[in-house]
Amino acid sequence: MGLSRLNRVIAVCILIAAIIYGWKTLFEARRPPCYSIDVKYFGSGVSPSTDAEDLSIKPFQVPFDRSQVDDMISRVRNTRFYEPQIAVDNRHVNKSSYGFNRQTAESVREYLINTFDWKKTVQELNTFSHFKTNIAGLDIHFVRVRKNAQTNKKRDAILFLHGWPGSFLEYLDVARQFNSSTTGNYDIIIPSLPGYGYSDAPLRGGMNPPQMARIMQNLMQRLGHSSYVVCGGDWGSFIGTHMAQLYPGHVRGLLITLVTPALTAKHYVQLGLAHFLTPTILLDFDEQDFLDERFNAKKYLEFLWKEGGYFHLQATRPDTIGYALNDSPLGLAAYILEKWSRWSNTQHDVDQSINSGLGRFTLDQLLSNVMLYWTTGTITSSMRLYYEHITSLASGYDDKLYYGPLAASVPVAIANYRNELLYVPRTIARARYPNIKLWLYHASGGHFASIEQPQEYYRDVENFLSRL
Ligand SMILES: *[C@@H]1O[C@H](CO)[C@@H](O)[C@H](O)[C@H]1NC(C)=O
Ligand SMILES: *[C@@H]1O[C@H](CO)[C@@H](O)[C@H](O)[C@H]1NC(C)=O
Repeated sequence: MGLSRLNRVIAVCILIAAIIYGWKTLFEARRPPCYSIDVKYFGSGVSPSTDAEDLSIKPFQVPFDRSQVDDMISRVRNTRFYEPQIAVDNRHVNKSSYGFNRQTAESVREYLINTFDWKKTVQELNTFSHFKTNIAGLDIHFVRVRKNAQTNKKRDAILFLHGWPGSFLEYLDVARQFNSSTTGNYDIIIPSLPGYGYSDAPLRGGMNPPQMARIMQNLMQRLGHSSYVVCGGDWGSFIGTHMAQLYPGHVRGLLITLVTPALTAKHYVQLGLAHFLTPTILLDFDEQDFLDERFNAKKYLEFLWKEGGYFHLQATRPDTIGYALNDSPLGLAAYILEKWSRWSNTQHDVDQSINSGLGRFTLDQLLSNVMLYWTTGTITSSMRLYYEHITSLASGYDDKLYYGPLAASVPVAIANYRNELLYVPRTIARARYPNIKLWLYHASGGHFASIEQPQEYYRDVENFLSRL
């Protein structure tokens, strides 16, 4: 007995609908989404016409100014400490519950006055080749390390993007390792973000991560790379993600240490269930092993509450705190080093020890980064990135970019270091990064992994390159 005529019509309709649906999900979903952003100008005066743009790449030397160092030391000597609570409440003497530990601040002060050698640091920095080039009205600084510059062979171009409160210094060790590796030809490019280090600060508002992405793509283009790999941490992860969205034809691969998720309603439900019922709803076995007891809503919210104050401050009134930080080197060091401490050891209750995490770096490493902010006077312009990010999110203008996935073609590596601030479960990460080629775990290392564990970080990048 055959199907009745009506049933046949229904069956054919269902079949056609299924084919259309299947086609859409299989093929359209794979088609890269189209993103674009406005071309903005951040320099003084009016934007020059395209043919009047200065495309030159000028060599640059990191400057050393003795009078700046003398001034810094005299300010540090004159630091006006507040009365500590030690005498009243002895429990806090060796802790950081109220903020950057007093004893550590005093030893940093000692070190800055008596030991730290900025001149030597500058000389070391100048063993690298530095350049500047003008993009969007701003002189953008970058370090370039070319291995086998003469060869015509294929060269891997890698762009390393830092974040806050870091700098290009975070990637110098990794660049050295690429330079001295036995195989491969590399062109390593490590810029200072606009408003950071030796790059000009934007003179107009609106310098958000997508605009930085545009500037960085422009830089790579100017250096002759139509195809390159981007590696980033912190803001560098955000900017790298936007580069892969905006320029999928140029970004061969993206390696990030901080996943920047775009959470949908479904993810919130998943996260809620995972936090309040069981993480196994959301996490694979390997993820559960990696996370231990960290997937705990109460603890995590407490962590965000304690550690997130700076974010709100910088996203709303960066200039106000900027007056103080740009005026006091010790205040600046405390503000920056507190972050390097807390973001390098998130596993323990950090209040239990003096600035835990700082011990993973040398004071020279830490203070070189601080001195970069101090001598260039860029702490305020660096903090404004938070303001620009949040205001552009709130405006809803670039919504597609902020919440959209990467173009599916761009391969991604995610290197999870144990003490990173945020762990994003793989299923959630996949929604934004559909083509994850590598998902790596590291039993140690934190937010500044590339400088804290440069060998491991270098191997991550090498591993990723070998798969592209
Ligand atoms: C705590 O601080 C006091 C006072 O500076 C010091 O004598 C003591 O050694 C410190 N204890 C620890 C465990 O660091
Ligand atoms: C890179 O390697 C070359 C050749 O060994 C060396 O001359 C150069 O100084 C190195 N560059 C850096 C920044 O280490």
